Amino acid sequence: MERLQKVLAHANIASRRKSEEIILEGRVKVNGNVVTELGFKVEKNDKIEVDGKPIEMAQHLYFLLNKPTGYVSTTSDDKNRKTVLDLLDPELKDIRLYPVGRLDFDTAGLLLLTNDGEFTNLMTHPEHEIEKEYLVRVEGIVTRKKIVQLRNGVVIDDGYLAVPKEVRLLELDKNFKTTLISITLAEGKNKQVRKMMDAIGHPVKKLTRVRYDFLTLEGVERGTYRFLKIHEVKKLYAHSQPKK
Ligand code: URA
Repeated sequence: MERLQKVLAHANIASRRKSEEIILEGRVKVNGNVVTELGFKVEKNDKIEVDGKPIEMAQHLYFLLNKPTGYVSTTSDDKNRKTVLDLLDPELKDIRLYPVGRLDFDTAGLLLLTNDGEFTNLMTHPEHEIEKEYLVRVEGIVTRKKIVQLRNGVVIDDGYLAVPKEVRLLELDKNFKTTLISITLAEGKNKQVRKMMDAIGHPVKKLTRVRYDFLTLEGVERGTYRFLKIHEVKKLYAHSQPKK
């Protein structure tokens, strides 16, 4: 027996809160009868319809989270720090969700979460070249020469040449002596952006992932999340075909 709003949320209809609204609006039928009671319990074989359409139980769930700094991107932490799972609705706690790749404790921004292992493997496979864009504020005024150096690739990790897809110089702050750069990577080595900035002598002050392939943070406040739409998941799957 599960509560109706939880079943709707798990079927990817909407977030739990939105699902509650949908129920209250009288748009949900269970076995042919409209149910507007929020605590209503349903069983596995009950026929649930939303706006007259039967729901299909989603096997997999996908979320886009706007991660704040101060959270680890793992499901548990040996130092007892907060994990990204702590940002999710308690109703989702019993689903084994995990992050797709990682963002550092001190990095904010776009992080996908799912319980789909195949999806995670495809997205994080280095040969699949999913683009990730970061906004990075670094210490010091970065010269054009350094930007060119970054574009051509810099050596990190004992000789690995890290070549970004794109680097754009966005803003020089002469008062505070910092520079804002956009950097797009098609790979995700551990602490790659930080290491690349260290390599040109400009340590990172603030790092935010603002894009994952075609997905952005639009409409998702820091510390909140939204469900991915089915067509977005399909598009990510399509984009994760090997490019080489
Ligand atoms: N690069 C980093 O250095 N840190 C992140 O969290 C992501 C990319």
